[in-house]
Amino acid sequence: MSSSSFNITSTSSSSDIATEPDADAGAEQTRRTLLIGALVTTACLGCSAPSRAGEDAPGADERPQKGDLLVFSEGDQEGKVITAADLPRGGPPVHAWPKDPKTSVVRSGSRLNEILIIRLDPAELDEQTKSRAVDGIIAYSAICSHAGCPVTAWVKSDVGDKEVFKCMCHNSEYDPRAGAQVVFGPAPRRLAALPLALVDATLNVAGNFIGKVGGQQPG
Ligand code: FES
Repeated sequence: MSSSSFNITSTSSSSDIATEPDADAGAEQTRRTLLIGALVTTACLGCSAPSRAGEDAPGADERPQKGDLLVFSEGDQEGKVITAADLPRGGPPVHAWPKDPKTSVVRSGSRLNEILIIRLDPAELDEQTKSRAVDGIIAYSAICSHAGCPVTAWVKSDVGDKEVFKCMCHNSEYDPRAGAQVVFGPAPRRLAALPLALVDATLNVAGNFIGKVGGQQPG
């Protein structure tokens, strides 16, 4: 890009200066400057387009879709498909991205796609939560509904003796046994739930997020 831009500048200057009357020299210089600027700008846009296009594959920022697989979003196993065997009963939760099984695109292009998956005793789940679960395995958006921080902790609740999801930004707590309803802190609503299914012994997304994903104000 650099060498072609320099060539454009050099060629235009030598031919135009030789044919212009002196009285129009200032205006013509301005015209040439604008023209060259436009050409350089166009060339730069052309150079930067491939890197922008390559940042995220198509579908990477789409919300989880029915049939998506779930892969680890962090740690030693990042990118590996999560199976029931990866999830110890009673927690802690695993952080995951959805992955399109047809294109192998991991939907990590939006932080709003990060998911918490945890395996609990099915007997602990309320009926609605159980209906979205597979053998006690349930999934929720990992984005706090207060100001959009990631929900990162699995700790004993400030208001009970059970462990809960906790957002460390302002201490909101969510109970995954009861649809991730808020049990403590300023969060205005529960985490969005992601229904799961078991297909050929593999965890799959069974439908869209239920509820709003993300915070009520910039995080
Ligand atoms: S962003 Fe989670 S409690 Fe405020």
